[in-house]
Order: sequence, then structure tokens, then C-alpha cells
Amino acid sequence: MAKESTSIGKGLDIGTVFIYCAQRTGPEVTFRIQRNAFFDIEYSDFARGILEKSNVEYILNKDKIFVMGEEAMKFANAFSRKLRRPMRSGVISPQEEDALLIVEMLIKSVLGLPSEKEEICYYSVPGSPIDADFDTIYHQNVIKGFLEKLGYRPKPLNEGLAIVFSELSEDNFTGIGMSFGGGMTNVCLAMLGVPVFSFSVARAGDWIDEQVARVTNQPVSKITTFKETFLDLRKTESNMNKAEQALSIYYEHLIEYALEQIKKEFLKTLPQLEEPIPIVISGGTVKPAGFLEKFKEKLKKTNFPLKVKEVRLAPHPLYTAAKGALIAALADRK
Ligand SMILES: Nc1ncnc2c1ncn2[C@@H]1O[C@H](COP(=O)(O)OP(=O)(O)O)[C@@H](O)[C@H]1O
Ligand SMILES: [Mg+2]
Repeated sequence: MAKESTSIGKGLDIGTVFIYCAQRTGPEVTFRIQRNAFFDIEYSDFARGILEKSNVEYILNKDKIFVMGEEAMKFANAFSRKLRRPMRSGVISPQEEDALLIVEMLIKSVLGLPSEKEEICYYSVPGSPIDADFDTIYHQNVIKGFLEKLGYRPKPLNEGLAIVFSELSEDNFTGIGMSFGGGMTNVCLAMLGVPVFSFSVARAGDWIDEQVARVTNQPVSKITTFKETFLDLRKTESNMNKAEQALSIYYEHLIEYALEQIKKEFLKTLPQLEEPIPIVISGGTVKPAGFLEKFKEKLKKTNFPLKVKEVRLAPHPLYTAAKGALIAALADRK
């Protein structure tokens, strides 16, 4: 059988916690993923030799070795030291001095080289944050520069709109796409694929972990691991331990908060929608069992100004934005 050929055009989702690349080969969409993190160790020939042998991705920087991506997490746990993170709240972190170097390397590692000169690459960018004092202009332009340097033709795509592209084709790309990530929650209301409004809030998974760590006096990494492995939001309060109760409280707060912000934006723009619309929710933070039920419950209790047809969970919440970006790239080529 002939080898399936890979389509030209890539989708890239640059999240605070993970970076994803989506590509189409024949009828299949394939994804590559890297944790958006690194860990530094003192340089020694010995350490370098071991990393080399174990196929760990690393770079040398002055007198340090930077271990990249998922492997960095293992090192951080083994050394009980904090993982270094080049992004915060959806954008390049001003607090991390080596952020640019790392993000560039991680993008290169998930994306690879273009398969033709100036291959088109759509990359996700957060909407303007409505509750934090920063914009996304610097971030967007820095990423654009990295992609051009690699030989791509980069095009930014709002992350909420990427969710709409990925999941709302049967609804004529009309509805609300929401991405509950690590650093941010992104929202976009689109009509026929055109954004009516989009925005982000600087609260999502990281925020939940930090709040819960604070109120339970535990390390953030411990809370994150617990949340990702065991959290079940369907449990009744009396069956939850202290951390679970706190997680549940902050999860509920996040959902209420996001819904309130949508309400505010809606009342500002007052779009005329004839039909009830679907809402699709995605992102790593929607993964725990019971999230969808909680979301629906909160929506019912909010005096929501839009008629909602249904609320759906994206089938692969972590990959949705990358897939949406890929769809945009493939459509753009046509
Ligand atoms: N199985 C899971 N259960 C709960 N939370 C999860 C799970 N998997 C990932 N997460 C959380 O999702 C967030 C990362 O999601 P992602 O959509 O990749 O974010 P970003 O776009 O900010 O990189 C993190 O806060 C992580 O802890
Ligand atoms: Mg994301």
C-alpha cells in the first residue's frame, strides 16, 4: 500500500502547561506534545553523558544543563525542587529569565521543520485578558518570530475560536468555545466562524492548584498531581478529604466566574442570535469526572442571557485547540 502522505499545514497550541502540534496524515490527525517546562542542573561531563545515553532532551546554557519538557518534571520531583516554567497566565513569563530560549526550543521540538518552504502554521493565542493588567501583543509577536525563523508562515488564531473550529462544524461554527487550560480560560462566541467576542481570564488550573495549596498548606505540585490523578467532582462533600473539598470549591468558583464574564461581555455587545447555541468546553481542567455536570448545574443557576441548546465536552479536551488550529491551516491552503 502506498504510504499515506502528510498534508501541508500545521496547527500549534502554545499553552502555559503544554505545547501541542497537530498534523494530518491521510485521514488521521496526529499530535505531538511537550510539557512547557524545564529544569536546570549544574554542568558536568558525567551528567551530560548520562542524559545523552538516556535520550533525554536537553540544551547547554552557560554552566548549566537545561532538561526539557516532560523529563524536567521527573527531575523536579526527584530533586524536590520547583520546575521552571517559561510561561505564566497564557503568555511568556516576565519572571523567567530564560523563557524565550526555552519556548523556542520546545516549539522546535514539537513542530519540527516545515515540509515545504513557508509551510503555513496556525498558532493559538489567548484572547485579551479582562481581569489582569497585561496584553498578549508581545507574546504573539515573539512566537511569530520563532515560527518565521524555523521557516513557517505563521498565522495567529484566537484559542477560543480554535475550539469552535474543532468542535462546531455541524453547528455551522456558531456557538461558544471555551478552553479551561492551566494558565487561562479562553472564551469565544462565534457566528458562522466569525468571532462576536472573545476574551480570556487569568484563572484556570494553575490558579485552582495555587489556591488549594494555600488553604490546605501543601506544596502546589502535590495538589496538581492529586488533582490530575484522583479528582472526582461527582463525590459528595462528606466523602471528600480536605484537599478534595478545596478543589471542588475552587472548581465551582472558576466556572461561576467564567460564566459571569461571558454574561458581562454579552451585555456589552448584545449580539442578535436567532437560534439557541451550543457551548463546547475543553482544556485540561475539564478532565476530572463530573466537570460537565458541575458546569451545567452552574449554568442553570446563572441568569444566562443566551439561549443554550446544549453543553458538550470536547472528545479530546487536551488536543482540541491544536486540532482547531490545524483545521484553520488546512482551510487556508484551499
Ligand atoms: N486528568 C486531569 N485532571 C485534572 N486536571 C488535569 C488533567 N490533565 C491535565 N489537567 C490540568 O489541565 C491544565 C493543563 O491543560 P491545558 O489545556 O494543556 O492547559 P494550557 O493550555 O494552559 O497549557 C493543568 O492545570 C493540568 O493540571
Ligand atoms: Mg490551552
